[in-house]
Amino acid sequence: MKNFLDLALAGPDLVAELVALAGRLQRRPEPDALRGKVLGLLFMNPSLRTLASFQSGMARLGGSSFVISPGSSWNLEYLPDIPMTGAAAEHVREAIPVLASYADALGVRAFAGGQDLAEDLSEPVFSAIEGLCSVPLINMESAVNHPCQALADWKTMDDERIPASNGRFVLSWASHPKPLPLAVPAAAAHMAAMRGMDVTVLRPKGFELPPEVMQRIDDAASRSGGSITETDDRGQAMQGAHVLYAKSWSATSVYGDAEADQDLRAGLTGWTIDSDWFENAHSESIFMHCLPVRREVVVTGDVLEGPRSRVIRQARNRMYAQMAVLHRLLVDKGD
Ligand code: CP
Repeated sequence: MKNFLDLALAGPDLVAELVALAGRLQRRPEPDALRGKVLGLLFMNPSLRTLASFQSGMARLGGSSFVISPGSSWNLEYLPDIPMTGAAAEHVREAIPVLASYADALGVRAFAGGQDLAEDLSEPVFSAIEGLCSVPLINMESAVNHPCQALADWKTMDDERIPASNGRFVLSWASHPKPLPLAVPAAAAHMAAMRGMDVTVLRPKGFELPPEVMQRIDDAASRSGGSITETDDRGQAMQGAHVLYAKSWSATSVYGDAEADQDLRAGLTGWTIDSDWFENAHSESIFMHCLPVRREVVVTGDVLEGPRSRVIRQARNRMYAQMAVLHRLLVDKGD
Protein backbone atom coordinates (compact mmCIF):
# COMPACT_ATOMS: atom_id res chain seq x y z
CA MET A 1 0.00 0.00 0.00
CA LYS A 2 1.61 3.27 -1.19
CA ASN A 3 -1.11 5.74 -0.14
CA PHE A 4 -4.43 5.64 1.71
CA LEU A 5 -6.86 7.62 -0.41
CA ASP A 6 -9.97 5.49 -0.89
CA LEU A 7 -11.26 2.15 0.49
CA ALA A 8 -12.13 1.16 -3.09
CA LEU A 9 -8.47 1.48 -4.10
CA ALA A 10 -7.39 -0.57 -1.08
CA GLY A 11 -9.85 -3.36 -1.89
CA PRO A 12 -11.73 -5.67 0.49
CA ASP A 13 -8.80 -7.96 1.37
CA LEU A 14 -6.54 -5.09 2.42
CA VAL A 15 -9.41 -3.40 4.28
CA ALA A 16 -9.97 -6.62 6.21
CA GLU A 17 -6.23 -6.74 7.02
CA LEU A 18 -6.31 -3.12 8.21
CA VAL A 19 -9.34 -3.74 10.43
CA ALA A 20 -7.61 -6.81 11.91
CA LEU A 21 -4.40 -4.81 12.44
CA ALA A 22 -6.37 -2.02 14.12
CA GLY A 23 -7.81 -4.58 16.52
CA ARG A 24 -4.37 -6.04 17.19
CA LEU A 25 -2.87 -2.61 17.92
CA GLN A 26 -5.78 -1.90 20.27
CA ARG A 27 -5.16 -5.16 22.19
CA ARG A 28 -1.35 -5.23 21.93
CA PRO A 29 0.20 -1.76 21.70
CA GLU A 30 3.46 -1.34 19.74
CA PRO A 31 4.99 1.77 21.32
CA ASP A 32 8.21 1.58 19.26
CA ALA A 33 6.82 0.63 15.84
CA LEU A 34 7.18 4.13 14.36
CA ARG A 35 10.04 5.46 16.50
CA GLY A 36 11.81 8.27 14.63
CA LYS A 37 9.03 8.64 12.05
CA VAL A 38 7.25 11.96 11.50
CA LEU A 39 3.69 12.42 10.27
CA GLY A 40 2.71 15.72 8.63
CA LEU A 41 -0.95 16.78 8.95
CA LEU A 42 -2.20 19.51 6.62
CA PHE A 43 -5.72 20.72 7.45
CA MET A 44 -7.28 23.12 4.96
CA ASN A 45 -10.52 22.80 7.01
CA PRO A 46 -11.29 22.41 10.73
CA SER A 47 -11.20 19.15 12.68
CA LEU A 48 -11.45 17.79 16.20
CA ARG A 49 -11.35 13.97 15.86
CA THR A 50 -9.13 13.59 12.81
CA LEU A 51 -6.47 15.93 14.17
CA ALA A 52 -6.45 14.53 17.71
CA SER A 53 -6.74 10.85 16.72
CA PHE A 54 -3.88 11.04 14.18
CA GLN A 55 -1.60 12.82 16.65
CA SER A 56 -2.50 10.45 19.47
CA GLY A 57 -2.19 7.37 17.25
CA MET A 58 1.21 8.45 15.92
CA ALA A 59 2.46 9.12 19.47
CA ARG A 60 1.20 5.71 20.67
CA LEU A 61 3.26 4.08 17.90
CA GLY A 62 6.39 5.98 19.02
CA GLY A 63 6.39 8.59 16.25
CA SER A 64 5.73 12.30 16.21
CA SER A 65 3.66 14.69 14.12
CA PHE A 66 3.32 18.31 13.05
CA VAL A 67 0.07 20.07 12.21
CA ILE A 68 -0.76 22.86 9.76
CA SER A 69 -4.22 24.14 10.75
CA PRO A 70 -6.54 26.47 8.83
CA GLY A 71 -5.57 30.04 9.65
CA SER A 72 -2.15 29.02 11.01
CA SER A 73 -0.46 29.02 7.61
CA TRP A 74 -0.73 30.51 4.11
CA ASN A 75 -3.90 29.99 2.12
CA LEU A 76 -3.06 27.47 -0.60
CA GLU A 77 -3.98 27.60 -4.29
CA TYR A 78 -4.47 24.31 -6.15
CA LEU A 79 -5.73 25.44 -9.58
CA PRO A 80 -2.99 25.26 -12.25
CA ASP A 81 -1.59 28.27 -14.04
CA ILE A 82 -3.73 31.06 -12.61
CA PRO A 83 -2.30 34.43 -11.53
CA MET A 84 -2.32 34.26 -7.73
CA THR A 85 -3.82 37.68 -7.05
CA GLY A 86 -6.36 36.45 -4.45
CA ALA A 87 -6.17 35.19 -0.86
CA ALA A 88 -3.78 32.31 -1.61
CA ALA A 89 -0.13 33.21 -1.00
CA GLU A 90 1.31 29.78 -1.83
CA HIS A 91 0.57 27.04 -4.35
CA VAL A 92 0.30 23.33 -3.51
CA ARG A 93 2.98 22.74 -6.15
CA GLU A 94 5.51 24.15 -3.68
CA ALA A 95 3.73 23.49 -0.35
CA ILE A 96 3.20 19.73 -0.78
CA PRO A 97 6.80 18.86 -1.80
CA VAL A 98 8.09 21.04 1.05
CA LEU A 99 5.86 19.36 3.66
CA ALA A 100 6.66 15.92 2.23
CA SER A 101 10.38 16.69 2.63
CA TYR A 102 9.81 17.09 6.40
CA ALA A 103 7.67 13.98 6.89
CA ASP A 104 7.57 10.21 6.39
CA ALA A 105 3.83 10.38 5.56
CA LEU A 106 1.45 13.26 4.90
CA GLY A 107 -2.25 13.51 5.73
CA VAL A 108 -4.34 16.16 3.95
CA ARG A 109 -7.88 17.42 4.61
CA ALA A 110 -9.53 19.46 1.83
CA PHE A 111 -13.33 19.74 1.84
CA ALA A 112 -15.59 20.22 -1.16
CA GLY A 113 -16.06 23.71 -2.56
CA GLY A 114 -19.82 23.11 -2.42
CA GLN A 115 -20.56 25.21 -5.53
CA ASP A 116 -20.11 22.91 -8.52
CA LEU A 117 -21.07 19.25 -8.09
CA ALA A 118 -19.14 17.99 -11.12
CA GLU A 119 -16.03 19.77 -9.91
CA ASP A 120 -16.38 18.38 -6.38
CA LEU A 121 -16.92 14.85 -7.73
CA SER A 122 -13.60 15.20 -9.59
CA GLU A 123 -11.74 15.61 -6.25
CA PRO A 124 -9.89 18.71 -7.47
CA VAL A 125 -7.48 19.20 -4.56
CA PHE A 126 -6.38 15.57 -4.28
CA SER A 127 -6.08 15.38 -8.07
CA ALA A 128 -3.74 18.37 -7.89
CA ILE A 129 -1.56 17.10 -5.02
CA GLU A 130 -1.31 13.33 -5.44
CA GLY A 131 1.57 13.46 -7.92
CA LEU A 132 3.39 16.10 -5.87
CA CYS A 133 3.78 14.04 -2.70
CA SER A 134 6.95 11.95 -2.46
CA VAL A 135 5.83 10.19 0.77
CA PRO A 136 2.66 8.16 1.48
CA LEU A 137 -0.40 10.39 1.21
CA ILE A 138 -3.45 9.93 3.45
CA ASN A 139 -6.90 11.31 2.70
CA MET A 140 -8.16 12.90 5.94
CA GLU A 141 -11.44 13.89 4.19
CA SER A 142 -11.70 15.13 0.66
CA ALA A 143 -14.55 16.54 -1.42
CA VAL A 144 -16.51 13.28 -1.65
CA ASN A 145 -14.58 10.77 0.45
CA HIS A 146 -13.54 10.10 4.03
CA PRO A 147 -11.75 6.72 3.99
CA CYS A 148 -10.35 7.05 7.54
CA GLN A 149 -13.89 7.47 8.89
CA ALA A 150 -15.11 4.59 6.73
CA LEU A 151 -12.35 2.26 7.97
CA ALA A 152 -13.15 3.12 11.60
CA ASP A 153 -16.86 2.58 10.95
CA TRP A 154 -16.17 -0.84 9.42
CA LYS A 155 -14.19 -1.77 12.56
CA THR A 156 -17.01 -0.48 14.78
CA MET A 157 -19.53 -2.71 13.02
CA ASP A 158 -17.18 -5.70 13.28
CA ASP A 159 -16.66 -4.96 17.00
CA GLU A 160 -20.46 -4.87 17.41
CA ARG A 161 -20.87 -8.14 15.44
CA ILE A 162 -23.16 -6.45 12.93
CA PRO A 163 -23.66 -9.03 10.15
CA ALA A 164 -22.03 -8.30 6.79
CA SER A 165 -24.02 -10.65 4.57
CA ASN A 166 -27.74 -9.82 5.04
CA GLY A 167 -26.83 -7.00 7.41
CA ARG A 168 -29.16 -4.03 6.87
CA PHE A 169 -27.43 -0.62 6.82
CA VAL A 170 -29.56 2.53 6.59
CA LEU A 171 -27.81 5.78 5.72
CA SER A 172 -30.30 8.50 6.61
CA TRP A 173 -30.24 12.18 5.76
CA ALA A 174 -31.01 14.26 8.86
CA SER A 175 -32.02 17.83 9.61
CA HIS A 176 -29.30 20.48 9.66
CA PRO A 177 -29.35 24.25 9.22
CA LYS A 178 -26.58 24.26 6.57
CA PRO A 179 -25.68 22.38 3.38
CA LEU A 180 -22.90 19.93 4.24
CA PRO A 181 -20.44 17.96 2.07
CA LEU A 182 -21.17 14.55 0.58
CA ALA A 183 -17.90 13.03 1.81
CA VAL A 184 -19.17 11.10 4.84
CA PRO A 185 -22.49 9.83 3.38
CA ALA A 186 -20.74 8.74 0.17
CA ALA A 187 -17.94 7.00 2.09
CA ALA A 188 -20.24 5.37 4.66
CA ALA A 189 -22.66 3.89 2.12
CA HIS A 190 -19.78 2.69 -0.08
CA MET A 191 -18.06 1.11 2.92
CA ALA A 192 -21.21 -0.75 3.97
CA ALA A 193 -21.77 -2.01 0.41
CA MET A 194 -18.14 -3.11 0.20
CA ARG A 195 -18.66 -4.98 3.49
CA GLY A 196 -21.46 -6.94 1.79
CA MET A 197 -24.41 -5.24 3.49
CA ASP A 198 -27.84 -4.36 2.11
CA VAL A 199 -27.65 -0.56 2.04
CA THR A 200 -30.65 1.77 1.98
CA VAL A 201 -30.19 5.50 1.44
CA LEU A 202 -33.10 7.24 3.18
CA ARG A 203 -33.46 10.87 2.13
CA PRO A 204 -36.07 13.48 1.22
CA LYS A 205 -36.74 14.29 -2.42
CA GLY A 206 -34.13 16.69 -3.74
CA PHE A 207 -31.36 15.12 -1.61
CA GLU A 208 -30.65 12.08 -3.80
CA LEU A 209 -27.02 10.99 -3.79
CA PRO A 210 -25.44 11.85 -7.17
CA PRO A 211 -25.58 9.08 -9.81
CA GLU A 212 -21.76 8.83 -9.82
CA VAL A 213 -21.78 8.14 -6.06
CA MET A 214 -24.64 5.63 -6.36
CA GLN A 215 -22.78 3.87 -9.19
CA ARG A 216 -19.67 3.47 -7.00
CA ILE A 217 -21.81 2.03 -4.21
CA ASP A 218 -23.59 -0.26 -6.65
CA ASP A 219 -20.25 -1.51 -8.05
CA ALA A 220 -19.04 -2.30 -4.52
CA ALA A 221 -22.31 -4.08 -3.70
CA SER A 222 -22.13 -6.15 -6.91
CA ARG A 223 -18.67 -7.39 -5.98
CA SER A 224 -19.50 -8.13 -2.32
CA GLY A 225 -22.97 -9.64 -2.66
CA GLY A 226 -24.60 -6.62 -1.02
CA SER A 227 -27.22 -4.29 -2.45
CA ILE A 228 -28.18 -0.61 -2.63
CA THR A 229 -31.59 1.08 -2.73
CA GLU A 230 -32.72 4.68 -2.23
CA THR A 231 -36.06 5.78 -0.75
CA ASP A 232 -37.87 8.53 1.13
CA ASP A 233 -40.03 6.00 3.01
CA ARG A 234 -38.72 5.74 6.57
CA GLY A 235 -40.91 2.79 7.58
CA GLN A 236 -39.71 0.73 4.64
CA ALA A 237 -36.07 1.72 5.15
CA MET A 238 -35.95 0.98 8.88
CA GLN A 239 -37.68 -2.42 8.72
CA GLY A 240 -35.19 -4.88 10.25
CA ALA A 241 -32.30 -2.38 10.09
CA HIS A 242 -29.14 -3.35 11.98
CA VAL A 243 -27.54 0.10 11.65
CA LEU A 244 -28.97 3.60 11.36
CA TYR A 245 -26.15 5.88 10.21
CA ALA A 246 -27.27 9.51 10.30
CA LYS A 247 -25.71 12.36 8.35
CA SER A 248 -26.92 15.53 6.69
CA TRP A 249 -25.77 16.63 3.25
CA SER A 250 -26.43 19.26 0.59
CA ALA A 251 -29.56 19.27 -1.56
CA THR A 252 -28.02 17.72 -4.66
CA SER A 253 -30.92 18.85 -6.87
CA VAL A 254 -29.91 22.50 -6.29
CA TYR A 255 -26.21 21.98 -5.45
CA GLY A 256 -24.37 25.27 -4.95
CA ASP A 257 -27.58 27.35 -4.71
CA ALA A 258 -27.68 28.22 -1.00
CA GLU A 259 -31.07 29.94 -1.18
CA ALA A 260 -32.79 27.07 -2.99
CA ASP A 261 -31.15 24.60 -0.58
CA GLN A 262 -32.54 26.57 2.38
CA ASP A 263 -36.01 26.61 0.80
CA LEU A 264 -35.91 22.83 0.34
CA ARG A 265 -34.79 22.03 3.87
CA ALA A 266 -37.13 24.62 5.44
CA GLY A 267 -40.11 22.59 4.26
CA LEU A 268 -38.86 19.35 5.81
CA THR A 269 -40.12 18.10 9.15
CA GLY A 270 -39.58 14.79 10.94
CA TRP A 271 -35.92 14.36 9.97
CA THR A 272 -34.48 14.67 13.50
CA ILE A 273 -33.60 11.08 14.49
CA ASP A 274 -35.63 10.09 17.56
CA SER A 275 -36.20 6.84 19.48
CA ASP A 276 -39.38 6.05 17.52
CA TRP A 277 -37.31 5.66 14.35
CA PHE A 278 -36.15 2.29 15.73
CA GLU A 279 -39.65 0.80 16.29
CA ASN A 280 -39.38 -1.66 13.39
CA ALA A 281 -35.59 -1.97 13.37
CA HIS A 282 -33.70 -5.10 14.40
CA SER A 283 -33.87 -5.53 18.19
CA GLU A 284 -30.06 -5.09 18.46
CA SER A 285 -29.87 -2.17 16.05
CA ILE A 286 -27.30 0.55 16.65
CA PHE A 287 -27.09 4.28 15.94
CA MET A 288 -23.97 5.66 14.25
CA HIS A 289 -22.81 9.18 13.39
CA CYS A 290 -19.30 10.38 12.51
CA LEU A 291 -19.52 13.52 14.73
CA PRO A 292 -19.57 16.48 15.11
CA VAL A 293 -23.34 16.38 15.58
CA ARG A 294 -25.94 19.05 16.41
CA ARG A 295 -28.07 17.78 19.29
CA GLU A 296 -31.86 18.09 18.96
CA VAL A 297 -31.40 19.00 15.29
CA VAL A 298 -29.75 15.97 13.68
CA VAL A 299 -30.61 13.60 16.54
CA THR A 300 -32.20 13.80 19.96
CA GLY A 301 -30.11 13.56 23.10
CA ASP A 302 -32.12 10.45 24.05
CA VAL A 303 -30.82 8.56 21.01
CA LEU A 304 -27.33 10.06 21.18
CA GLU A 305 -26.87 8.99 24.81
CA GLY A 306 -29.14 5.95 24.64
CA PRO A 307 -28.22 2.26 24.53
CA ARG A 308 -28.16 2.09 20.73
CA SER A 309 -25.61 4.88 20.28
CA ARG A 310 -22.06 3.94 19.26
CA VAL A 311 -20.81 7.42 18.37
CA ILE A 312 -18.04 7.55 21.01
CA ARG A 313 -16.79 4.08 20.04
CA GLN A 314 -16.78 5.15 16.39
CA ALA A 315 -14.66 8.19 17.24
CA ARG A 316 -12.28 6.08 19.36
CA ASN A 317 -11.91 3.61 16.50
CA ARG A 318 -10.68 6.47 14.31
CA MET A 319 -7.43 6.30 16.29
CA TYR A 320 -6.96 2.51 15.99
CA ALA A 321 -7.95 2.48 12.31
CA GLN A 322 -5.47 5.25 11.50
CA MET A 323 -2.74 3.55 13.56
CA ALA A 324 -3.26 0.52 11.34
CA VAL A 325 -2.98 2.69 8.21
CA LEU A 326 0.23 4.31 9.48
CA HIS A 327 1.69 0.93 10.51
CA ARG A 328 0.93 -0.52 7.10
CA LEU A 329 2.31 2.50 5.22
CA LEU A 330 5.49 2.88 7.27
CA VAL A 331 6.36 -0.56 8.74
CA ASP A 332 4.96 -3.58 6.89
CA LYS A 333 4.51 -1.83 3.56
CA GLY A 334 3.47 -4.81 1.44
CA ASP A 335 2.73 -4.00 -2.23
N1 CP B 1 -15.61 12.72 11.90
C1 CP B 1 -14.62 13.61 11.70
O1 CP B 1 -13.89 13.55 10.70
O2 CP B 1 -14.49 14.52 12.71
P1 CP B 1 -13.62 15.86 12.60
O3 CP B 1 -14.24 16.68 11.47
O4 CP B 1 -13.77 16.52 13.94
O5 CP B 1 -12.21 15.51 12.29
